[in-house]
Amino acid sequence: METLIEKGKSAIVHGAKLIRQGEVVAFPTETVYGLGGNALDANCVAKIYEAKGRPSDNPLIVHISKVEDIYPLVAEFSERNKKVVQAFMPGPITLLFPKSELVPASVTAGLNTVGIRMPKNPIAREFIAECGVPIAAPSANASTRVSPTTAEHVFEDMKGRIPLIIDGGECEVGIESTVLDLTGEIPTILRPGAITPEMLLEVIGQVKTHTGEVINTAPAPGMKYKHYAPTVPMVVAKDMQSLLEEYDRQVQNGLKPLALIRGQAVAQIGERNFVNLGDNDFEVCRNIYKDMRNAEKVCDFIVCIHLGNQGLCNSVMNRVMKASGGKIV
Ligand code: TXA
Ligand code: MG
Repeated sequence: METLIEKGKSAIVHGAKLIRQGEVVAFPTETVYGLGGNALDANCVAKIYEAKGRPSDNPLIVHISKVEDIYPLVAEFSERNKKVVQAFMPGPITLLFPKSELVPASVTAGLNTVGIRMPKNPIAREFIAECGVPIAAPSANASTRVSPTTAEHVFEDMKGRIPLIIDGGECEVGIESTVLDLTGEIPTILRPGAITPEMLLEVIGQVKTHTGEVINTAPAPGMKYKHYAPTVPMVVAKDMQSLLEEYDRQVQNGLKPLALIRGQAVAQIGERNFVNLGDNDFEVCRNIYKDMRNAEKVCDFIVCIHLGNQGLCNSVMNRVMKASGGKIV
């Protein structure tokens, strides 16, 4: 199968047509690119799992273009949950509700909850609206690869497997949405993202945070898989001194390492190979996946600086810790 990359309104129209024919199409969102198909068509859902090479016990998020589209998909919609929707949709968050009969079991991997997301990205919203059906979509990477934040990343992983990638340029946020379970008494973050616990607290007063960093017992089934892994080994350095020591140790081991650091640390790096992740937390978040993907092509060992545990960096570190298998030096 030939995989096209197209831009603009004609790409959206073409993509929606393919979706209505039961095909799978990659599209941009503000978080990462998604691999979309008709969420109400079990055959199409099977195609998504196949293109991605994903175990079918890991549920897919259902994407919508307007708030009213939530109602047919959920069995229950409380006042509290309405408040959360009003405050954070559209945006980089996925909300879990008890699912309605309309949602095929294959989308939710047999669970009785459904994850719903309304992206902020205008191309995503226009595409979903044009499709006229809710769109089931995981991130558009091959299973276990880092999530794609450009159309070219999607092409690397999905070439020959899907007919079309809608190119919307680089994703604004750069890591996947916050997943918030609204089915229990206390809303629970299953996956941290750009909507932080602090932001949720302002609206709902009580939230359970997800802190287990690597493999854990969190109820998001996706969390038990090794995720977001570069193809070369990666470790996290607790500070710049450890980073420089680890880098030099790997050189002595005969490897060609690469350091991922903040802009402020560039002056300390000397002659070593490095990538500047950015000068502030938003830049670092936007760049982290791109820089991991590029790093694995030019080095055989990655040393990433610990980015801290506050706010957005806590979410970025969640991905970095997975990529490194939790190894800190
Ligand atoms: O930002 C995002 O969320 C991107 C864009 C494309 O929207 N999508 C994305 O999908 O990251 P995916 O499939 O790569 O990750 C979805 C995560 C998985 O860890 C999955 O287990 C969890 O959400 N999830 C989805 N539905 C769930 C459910 N009903 N119960 C528990 N976890 C669920
Ligand atoms: Mg994913």
